Amino acid sequence: MNSEFHHIPVLQDEVINFLSPKPGERLLDCTLGLGGHAKALIDTAGGDLELVGIDADPDNLSVARENLLTVNCQLFHANFRQLADLHLGTFDIILADLGVSSPHFDDPDRGFSLRSDGPLDMRLDRTSGVTAAQLIAESSEASLANILYEYGEIRQSRKLAAAIKVALPTTTKELRTLCETLFGYRAPGILPQVFQALRIAVNDELGALQSLLQCAPNMLKPGGRLGIISFHSLEDRLVKKCFKEYSTPKINETTGAPIAPAPFVLVTKKAIQPTAEEVENNPRSRSAKFRVILFV
Ligand SMILES: C[S@@+](CC[C@H](N)C(=O)[O-])C[C@H]1O[C@@H](n2cnc3c(N)ncnc32)[C@H](O)[C@@H]1O
Repeated sequence: MNSEFHHIPVLQDEVINFLSPKPGERLLDCTLGLGGHAKALIDTAGGDLELVGIDADPDNLSVARENLLTVNCQLFHANFRQLADLHLGTFDIILADLGVSSPHFDDPDRGFSLRSDGPLDMRLDRTSGVTAAQLIAESSEASLANILYEYGEIRQSRKLAAAIKVALPTTTKELRTLCETLFGYRAPGILPQVFQALRIAVNDELGALQSLLQCAPNMLKPGGRLGIISFHSLEDRLVKKCFKEYSTPKINETTGAPIAPAPFVLVTKKAIQPTAEEVENNPRSRSAKFRVILFV
């Protein structure tokens, strides 16, 4: 890994193999991050790839700008839920590597890390939206419980929501201490789920993914490949269901006779997961699942 990439791109070899970039192609990286995957794909095509990169986080985008100085690219500060509004044209390769990057966890001020102390922010884009602390303050106890149950699969979500609404934590440490008091020895297992649930809600991550899944396939050129890396089952379930639908021929509901062939081919019959060696070198990769479809 190059020293300027302080985020190890996950499943990098698999991304290159399945998206197989060729000279002269157009690449849309919907989650540019620090530009690690994009750079590896461009290098594989001998430097001859036109990159359009977007990221919701302007801080990551400016690091990517530095890392990709020599590359033919257009970079946008945008959320991929706005893809349709950006009128970017069509692409041979579209990649989305969902979620947060290492700098998000490493900077306590971002509020993503349950190990360090910082404001309960958790926004990918600090130029808009509400922070996790604001979300907690503004949500009813019932809707907070719902967030914790739906996005964190926390069984005692009502009990936790009630305690959070009383304490109204504004820092990661206050939230952690509250969970430790409430759940005791079980807290270390539950805390990551609490942080995940709030992060998903703050950034409306599943809503954004649904928009991406509707829009991105229509932006592929014939022969184009769309690859999505997800990091938790809620995301992977959406990707798997959607890719299956797109790659299933349309049939007559009554007779079962085929009406139209499927516009896409499922390239990855099963999700691609990191090897034990990758997980050992980069523990963050352990929950990654990569799925690819091809526009025929
Ligand atoms: C896992 S990192 C990507 C890392 C990148 N592949 C690399 O190699 O450096 C995810 C990135 O996607 C961005 N992101 C997450 N959700 C987004 C969304 N809805 N729209 C745009 N960017 C998003 C995050 O800000 C973060 O920089």
